[in-house]
Amino acid sequence: MSELIILTLLVILAAGVCVWCVYMLAGEFLGGAAFVPTNQKDIEKLLEKLKIKPGQVFYDLGSGDGRVVKHAVKNYQARGIGVEINPWLLLWSRLTSKKDGLTNIKFISQDFWKMNLNNADYIYFYMSPRSAEKLGKKVQKECRRGTVLISKAFEIKTMRDKLVEAVLLNDKRYWIYKI
Ligand SMILES: C[S@@+](CC[C@H](N)C(=O)[O-])C[C@H]1O[C@@H](n2cnc3c(N)ncnc32)[C@H](O)[C@@H]1O
Repeated sequence: MSELIILTLLVILAAGVCVWCVYMLAGEFLGGAAFVPTNQKDIEKLLEKLKIKPGQVFYDLGSGDGRVVKHAVKNYQARGIGVEINPWLLLWSRLTSKKDGLTNIKFISQDFWKMNLNNADYIYFYMSPRSAEKLGKKVQKECRRGTVLISKAFEIKTMRDKLVEAVLLNDKRYWIYKI
């Protein structure tokens, strides 16, 4: 009898791990990337450079655990929008921003390729080389002049004429473009 209980618990545990893995890799299946967070110290140094003003709209497309958006809201009083497809990461982002008392922030459960980004002042993006090029085209089509796009780790070759700075932090390059 106890063996049956242990076996049942193991099956439930294995199923839980499988579901968790599927969600963690969901971004990969959608042509994006799995969850790999940006280092907190790099976020601090990077956002310091951006000169975000209170009330400006800051997006993180594929916001993971919400750390980048939360930093922009907490320290620069931006209006933060995180877009994420993984429900666990969304839940975590919502709970932790509530715990921190952040009100000017929302986490949207959506595939960001289907969103219009025309109200963005800043867009942060950490995905893959191919999706960075694709996003470059989307942003230039939809966003207004002055919108800043930060692509972590991947240069957007078709936006070379819009490059403001390529910042190196902790062996990772952050490509900053202004439309
Ligand atoms: C490399 S992680 C970056 C996380 C966060 N931006 C950071 O830098 O800490 C990429 C995230 O994008 C999410 N993602 C991938 N494709 C997506 C899509 N089409 N729409 C929304 N989120 C997506 C993944 O679930 C993952 O959490």
